[in-house]
Amino acid sequence: MTEEYPIFSELLNSIRSTKDIEIPFIPLKRVIGQDEAVDLAGLAASQRRHLLLVGPPGIGKSMVAQALALNLLRPTHEIQIVHNPENPERPFVEVKDAEGVSQDRENQESAEGEIIDPKEAPATIAEKLGYKCVHCGVYSNYHDRTCSGCNKTKAAIPVSVGSSPFADLNNKDGGADSSPETATQERVITTRKRFGNEEVVMFERAGEGIKVLDQQALEKRREVERQSPRKILVPLDRKPFVFSTGASETELLGDVKHDPYGSHPELGIPPYERVVAGAIHEAHQGVLFIDELPNLGPIQRFILTAMQERRFPISGRNPQSAGASVRVDDVPCDFIFVGACNIQDLHEILSPLRSRIIGSGYEVLLNTSMPDNDENRCKLIQFIAQEVIMDGRIPHASPEAVQAIVEEAGSRALSSDGEKNALTLRLRDLGGLIRAAGDEAVRNDHELIQNDDIKNALKRSRPVEEQIREKYGSYFNAVASDVSASHRSTNPYYYWNSQEHKNTDRGYE
Ligand SMILES: Nc1ncnc2c1ncn2[C@@H]1O[C@H](COP(=O)(O)OP(=O)(O)OP(=O)(O)O)[C@@H](O)[C@H]1O
Ligand SMILES: [Mg+2]
Repeated sequence: MTEEYPIFSELLNSIRSTKDIEIPFIPLKRVIGQDEAVDLAGLAASQRRHLLLVGPPGIGKSMVAQALALNLLRPTHEIQIVHNPENPERPFVEVKDAEGVSQDRENQESAEGEIIDPKEAPATIAEKLGYKCVHCGVYSNYHDRTCSGCNKTKAAIPVSVGSSPFADLNNKDGGADSSPETATQERVITTRKRFGNEEVVMFERAGEGIKVLDQQALEKRREVERQSPRKILVPLDRKPFVFSTGASETELLGDVKHDPYGSHPELGIPPYERVVAGAIHEAHQGVLFIDELPNLGPIQRFILTAMQERRFPISGRNPQSAGASVRVDDVPCDFIFVGACNIQDLHEILSPLRSRIIGSGYEVLLNTSMPDNDENRCKLIQFIAQEVIMDGRIPHASPEAVQAIVEEAGSRALSSDGEKNALTLRLRDLGGLIRAAGDEAVRNDHELIQNDDIKNALKRSRPVEEQIREKYGSYFNAVASDVSASHRSTNPYYYWNSQEHKNTDRGYE
């Protein structure tokens, strides 16, 4: 280890600023001072084990979970929901590997028409789709609401009277909000004469170009859709890290959306299309991270079932909704579970859930400080460099500033955790100091964060309790004086404690 980390003072003398410090490429190496948690996270990634990270805020729990996910290989399977013609309310689930997925895409593309340059399309079509300006005729992408030629809105369809005054601005993407009042359309169906025959043709936005689907292509598309209508629930190309607050069962476990027309074969949206994945499914083959795990309360029990079975049904969660009758069984959810919690809430984690974690993973208490030695001081320099780069708006720190931050880390270890000869690992707070000092440096036009900037930042970044104590002497004095006139007559605290009413015989009114 000592080879890796040089003597602190030598390192400090050899750099001009923290810009010269190399940031490790391996994500877990960016977490400092939590060797045990980092070690277990590495193991959890390679052996697919669960983790419970325990400790106070801002010491790297989320960071460990994210770094763990970056150690995983990319997901190899996609989850699709397939229409069940016999019983539409019981759609099937299909899991496809990369080869299957690319086959699907090929099939679909074979049914797609040719892409043409918007300039090759009939002018009225290009206008309706938003590629051509109705005022000056200049072409641009449909994403741009205003024309680059004349700076006017490229509206093709006059906005109807009584509609929103901003209707012409609503044509961002023709997506969910492309209501009839939007100015341009996502697709236009028209007819054309070909070899003496009249045929239907559809023009559709396709990025920079326009997709033309002639009758043949339209039929093919319909057929592909008919063969096996499906929805991609969890795509192959996804991040292996899913952060869930577990705010609701729906978010965690998925849902089936409501449709006012229920499953009416012509009017309704078919059930398979209304199935929504939960965080547990999105985390398939990756990491499901839940911060403040005890906040989940009784919902925790679903996680333990999901962990055990590695598949969990999706059903409509609102009994009043048309989604309630829909259910997809066996949706895969094979995730690595990482939960985080504070020490004082530990007892609120369901014991069977803890038992699952211990049975197939590790619980780890994170450190709040680390011994003050050369190696750890060098790690703190790395931390400072990381924070500066991450912030992106502040300059790097000079060697003197680094020295001052390290000293502050020492005194915080003592004041927050009673640890002597130690450096604090409450690094979110220490990061706050670095950012505040960086802001000072920016304001004073300093090229690097200097010692003075740290001193000023220290004055400013005191907790509000400390500021109250300094201004009012005590918290109680502060409360007594922090009342408005209207408060005075009604607030019993003020009544009994203020000088005005002392020694008067007026009782509590
Ligand atoms: N051990 C660490 N190594 C490097 N940076 C850290 C470490 N701990 C905290 N940080 C810095 O503080 C920030 C907050 O840390 P993180 O979100 O991991 O804390 P946490 O323990 O998850 O806190 P909370 O309990 O509030 O969610 C990180 O983005 C990082 O900038
Ligand atoms: Mg966190």
